[in-house]
Amino acid sequence: MQVEQKEKLYEGKGKKLYKTNDENFVLAEFKDDLTAFNAQKKGNEEGKGALNCKISSEIFKLLEKRGIKTHYVETLADNLMLCQFVEIIPIEVVVRNIATGSLTKRLGIKEGERLPFALVEFYYKDDSLGDPLINDEHALILGCVKSIEILEHLRKIGRDVNEVLCEFFDRRNLMLVDFKLEFGLNQKNEILVADEITPDSCRFWDKNSKEKLDKDRFREDLGGVKMAYEEVLKRILLG
Ligand code: TMP
Ligand code: ASP
Repeated sequence: MQVEQKEKLYEGKGKKLYKTNDENFVLAEFKDDLTAFNAQKKGNEEGKGALNCKISSEIFKLLEKRGIKTHYVETLADNLMLCQFVEIIPIEVVVRNIATGSLTKRLGIKEGERLPFALVEFYYKDDSLGDPLINDEHALILGCVKSIEILEHLRKIGRDVNEVLCEFFDRRNLMLVDFKLEFGLNQKNEILVADEITPDSCRFWDKNSKEKLDKDRFREDLGGVKMAYEEVLKRILLG
């Protein structure tokens, strides 16, 4: 699809969004910047943006193939993705298979323990509040969505994405520990998986060694961030 890049619409921590000559589409430019802990920790890894763009493109294509609607249209350059314009629902939907991160801190569940079922959590997308954990009633009171049915739909898509990705990564010797999804509404009021699905927004552990192959390498100063992202892409492309 032929589009012209227009003015910047928004700059986030991992991407810049640009308008195009068509109001139904935006361009997402994936940045090399890394942030953690609500941007209190900052870094940069040359080539990370291109790796994330490629990884997210492949995952969105896989989801589309499995009938899960996303904002993905096409990848136009190394770090440039054409997407449908969506209005982002201000909820981060986190799906967890294995306990780690904030879940172990909050509830004391043992690090590395497999959960009895995939846990879906909602976080209110507001950096000034530090993206707090919320329940359905909070989401309705905050006006994040209009009805409880939409929240149930988000939970269902979260579980569907989890099923597709767990199976996909398992065959590539990677454990999908947890991940975060964002959703948006397009002009036709369809709910689409939006934003990105990358090692910035997911946790991947090697199935055998349990080595971390995601942004935890940056969060925990483990080194080898780019190598880990390259390894994830390599395994995705195994076909
Ligand atoms: P958490 O254990 O820190 O709550 O993170 C759960 C998952 O969500 C993990 O895969 C990383 C992802 N995540 C984001 O993508 N953005 C965020 O701002 C946070 C806090 C987590
Ligand atoms: N992405 C968030 C930030 O930049 C938090 C995180 O992923 O740890 O602050």
